[in-house]
Amino acid sequence: MDYSVILEQIFEEVQEYFGKGKVANYIPALSKINPKKLGISICTVKGKEFSIGDAEEAFSIQSISKVISLTIAMQLEGNRIWSRVGREPSGTKFNSLIQLEYENGIPRNPFINAGAIVITDIISTPNKDTKIELLQFIQNIINNENLQFDMEVAKSEKDTGYRNAALANFLKSFNNLNNKVEDVLNTYYHQCSIHLNCKELSQLFLYLANGGKTLSGHKIISLRQAKRINSLMLTCGLYDAVGDFAYRVGLPAKSGVGGGIISTIPGELCISVWSPELNRYGNSLVGTKVLELFTTYTGLSIF
Ligand code: DON
Repeated sequence: MDYSVILEQIFEEVQEYFGKGKVANYIPALSKINPKKLGISICTVKGKEFSIGDAEEAFSIQSISKVISLTIAMQLEGNRIWSRVGREPSGTKFNSLIQLEYENGIPRNPFINAGAIVITDIISTPNKDTKIELLQFIQNIINNENLQFDMEVAKSEKDTGYRNAALANFLKSFNNLNNKVEDVLNTYYHQCSIHLNCKELSQLFLYLANGGKTLSGHKIISLRQAKRINSLMLTCGLYDAVGDFAYRVGLPAKSGVGGGIISTIPGELCISVWSPELNRYGNSLVGTKVLELFTTYTGLSIF
């Protein structure tokens, strides 16, 4: 299918939704972004790419990085990770503390902040620089030799990361954090600060639509693991808005407060969208609309 015409139509149609959301400002460095940005990019399992708008402008991937760390944790530890983190939707905000106490320090899923911090701990060992390994994981899939952390965003998040620090300390008190709190948080803040554009994100996460393999056929994870990550994105990828998103879009997806969303149609394609204004659940408002129109106009969804 040639998606160019559909992307043009959607791009026009969503313009009226600008101004209805708010750029994230709880991490001060994120609030500087131009709210009017919109990029969309598709990479198909056959290697065809379609892009429109600001698809080549890099942005802070934030919680989308949790899919990368989960993939690496699954590569390293397989099913053992499930003794330390659950796989149920939380129904709470991404940085909520409330469930952690009465569920004895086992976060509901790997995508809420508490769960992602545990996953970052799982992939961390004292003698290696885990944040560099995360960059290398990305670099091995996409062609970007200039890939870097946004030090300003990482520092800004560290300076204001009171809730994440609380979550990490809480996890430690339940013996669900092996490494030092400050080391795990440092890696977590850096992984969230990685800058990628929509085109790169669709190439990167194509393995989730392609049975665990990259476009060039390199195996990242097994077919079964790819199915499981897609399932987790469907049920937990958009936090307390996951039900409404599934109703509207009908695809697995993962959002970030930088305004990015990646989404997959297994066997077909990966689509990435970026628009910084967020809805009240912390997900891109225009981005969600783009994906809703995409599945509506193409008739493609997993259902
Ligand atoms: O930990 C935080 O608050 C951010 N670094 C990531 C949050 C995020 O992207 C939530 N997703 N919508």
